[in-house]
Amino acid sequence: MKIFLDTANLAAIKMYNDMGLVDGITTNPSLLAKEGGDPQKTMEEIVRIVKGDVSLEVLSIETSGMLEEGRRLRKYGNNVVVKCPLTPEGLKACKMLTVEGIPVNITLCFSVNQAILAAKAGAKYVSPFIGRLDDNGQDGINLIREIHQVFQNYKFTTQLLVASVRHPMHVVEAAKIGAEVVTLPPDVLGKMLKHPLTDVGLKNFLADWEKLKKENPSIRI
Ligand code: G3P
Repeated sequence: MKIFLDTANLAAIKMYNDMGLVDGITTNPSLLAKEGGDPQKTMEEIVRIVKGDVSLEVLSIETSGMLEEGRRLRKYGNNVVVKCPLTPEGLKACKMLTVEGIPVNITLCFSVNQAILAAKAGAKYVSPFIGRLDDNGQDGINLIREIHQVFQNYKFTTQLLVASVRHPMHVVEAAKIGAEVVTLPPDVLGKMLKHPLTDVGLKNFLADWEKLKKENPSIRI
């Protein structure tokens, strides 16, 4: 399973990238707006820091504008994946960018039918938003299960990128299903890392070592 960070926060990206945990990044206009500053500089910096795929989203709602923006975004680096919305215009842009060799992440997917169409349009990734479905009284993880099964049935090569992840159990469930990628807000990745028994265990190891050192001050490892 690949782990992407769903953020434009440079400090979080650097921190988790240094731990070797970041296979890629997804951003969107809301995440860039949250960080403030110059979004172009932020996107360029993300593309520089992270070796894996970085999804950068278009803002146009028409295919011609998406193509222009997508080509410009791709100039930031060869690891840029252009994020287009799951609309007729977005799917057309996906098809055309893919033919040009520019990979596309189709975003705002909320159904199996939409995911099938993203795959047919040649998307490298399709991003179902599971947390927003849960918020809406639907079962986000079940959507992942169904898309995964359909993609396997037809050997579609589009990768299932689980987005709008709200908590670590979403990650566990997506991993059990076999989704290729999860994109996580930094706080969810932080929660995956922490366990109270790890903290207690480490504290006890260090306390026992201090006892040993009192008996024999010259010991070292
Ligand atoms: O990539 C964006 C997607 O993950 C949206 O997440 O939390 O705004 O529903 P959220």
